[in-house]
Amino acid sequence: MNLIDAFIGEHAVFYSLFDHLEDTLNDFESLGEVQRIGVVLGAAVDSHSLMEEDLFKQVDPYMGPEGSMEVVRSEHEELSATLGLIAQATELDFALEKLAHLISLSRHHFSKEEHVLFPILRRSVDAATLEKLGDEWAEKRVVLL
Ligand SMILES: [Fe+2]
Ligand SMILES: [Fe+2]
Repeated sequence: MNLIDAFIGEHAVFYSLFDHLEDTLNDFESLGEVQRIGVVLGAAVDSHSLMEEDLFKQVDPYMGPEGSMEVVRSEHEELSATLGLIAQATELDFALEKLAHLISLSRHHFSKEEHVLFPILRRSVDAATLEKLGDEWAEKRVVLL
């Protein structure tokens, strides 16, 4: 499986989660509820970020300035920092604001990957390498292809 297709598939699952959370943001009644969602969402977001950083290391030389690992990593750090703010929040409204911000940042980051970084990689890395990396992704995710 092509690594880029695998990551686009992961993004698609996040988009469903984000849609659901945006539709239900007003239903949260306590800070604890928002923080528990933050922990669950954070586990998935961090796992996705680490998987990208781990596998993209091998194709870093092909990335342009707009899609460099440095840019990707700093955006991943911003997502983690926002998750940290949700965890440390002491007010429901603040936590909700940060959850909405996290979703917005994530959508922007994923969109940038899909429109800038992934096309660069598809153009500049040979298909066999992307397939080999896709196999590594499957092994790490423990899924059968
Ligand atoms: Fe990413
Ligand atoms: Fe991504």
